[in-house]
Amino acid sequence: MKLPLALLAAVLVSQPALAQRAKPAPVGFPDGPGKDVLVNKCFQCHSPNMWMDHRQDRRGWESTLYRMVGRGALWTQDDIKQMADYLGNVYGRKAQ
Ligand code: HEC
Repeated sequence: MKLPLALLAAVLVSQPALAQRAKPAPVGFPDGPGKDVLVNKCFQCHSPNMWMDHRQDRRGWESTLYRMVGRGALWTQDDIKQMADYLGNVYGRKAQ
């Protein structure tokens, strides 16, 4: 009876440590094509902290951007293209 409990405790204790390690290093907003568009348009509704831990490829970011359009963002196709390019580069899977 004692062993499984200790095991459970060990799992519970190690969980936050794992989550900490999995968190990507902060990348911020390095200069690059599309940065200005992103910085101007992205912070209107919520802080970037909401998504700065996300990593996905350009296609994934593009669909995220279209979700924001569905939530009321007024962006042109060109804005979306530039922001998706930037996010795919800087917040892409391979960036870390
Ligand atoms: C028109 C307002 C608006 C703008 C501008 C906006 N968002 Fe959002 N975003 C929202 C809303 C509303 C939510 C949902 C909030 C919640 O779930 O609490 C959200 C949630 C998110 C989420 C998490 C949920 C999901 O659908 O993935 C991500 C990631 C995200 N936004 C990324 C971005 C990025 C990147 C930008 C800039 C390019 C951006 N947002 C700009 C309104 C906006």
